[in-house]
Amino acid sequence: MALVTFKQLLAVAQNENKAIGAFSVGNMEMIMGAVQAAEEMNTPIILQIAEKRLKNSPLELMAPMMVSAAKNSKVDIAVHLDHGLTIECVKNALDFGFTSVMLDASLLPYEDNVNATKDVVAMAQNYGASVEAELGVVGGNEGDTAEHIIACTDPVVAKDFCERTGIDALAVAIGNAHGNYPVLPSLRFDILEEIQAIVKTPLVLHGGTGITDPMFRSAISLGIRKINIATASFDSLAKYAKEYCNNAEPADYFKLSSAMIEGTAKNIKRHIEIFNNQV
Ligand code: 13P
Repeated sequence: MALVTFKQLLAVAQNENKAIGAFSVGNMEMIMGAVQAAEEMNTPIILQIAEKRLKNSPLELMAPMMVSAAKNSKVDIAVHLDHGLTIECVKNALDFGFTSVMLDASLLPYEDNVNATKDVVAMAQNYGASVEAELGVVGGNEGDTAEHIIACTDPVVAKDFCERTGIDALAVAIGNAHGNYPVLPSLRFDILEEIQAIVKTPLVLHGGTGITDPMFRSAISLGIRKINIATASFDSLAKYAKEYCNNAEPADYFKLSSAMIEGTAKNIKRHIEIFNNQV
């Protein structure tokens, strides 16, 4: 199969009433675990990394691995820059062969978000790449910044934003938050329904970690076509690595590497099953 854009994957998801999992990766083992899970489930995925994670996992090292893993996979895979914060980083990702990018200008005043997003759409077109943007404020944080207070996406503004920018996917804020939720989230499906009724652009749900299976199903039934999972994969990798090290005397690097791949794959397979509407 092939390295594809997420626009292609989201169109298929739309027809089949499912969502594509967008899985954050931070090292080679996470990439291998994600691809292994996708191949075992015979399901396309999106491999992604956020700009804030690049200090731990530099783009110049991660990008060639991510793109190569996608090209050599038995399933279709899109490679995506999640939460791009600077136009320089967006351009670097495109130069490395990422097939989609997100510029997160959601904290800027509305007109500035529109203009910055339009610039990214124009740039991405030169590379044949897709673009995601965000409206409203998703809670939690990405990396070590301050927590954001949730502000739900306004459906009417979302329609205007998608029409004026020409983006390929819109990340919505409906009570979702990045990271582990302190209490079970209560997602505003009423707002999602209103957005879906007037916005034709495929919708994205960030902050997938900790969202329950029934909530995922409801979100998919209301037009969510891309679901981001990061923390749950990092936690699963760390758990498997810790268990291995606690039980192995002496610990062996190669077995530790396998444990990290397995920990990532386990979490991703669980999510793919739900996103495919299989369980
Ligand atoms: P979680 O870390 O909550 O899974 O969120 C992932 C995400 O939305 C990345 O943009």
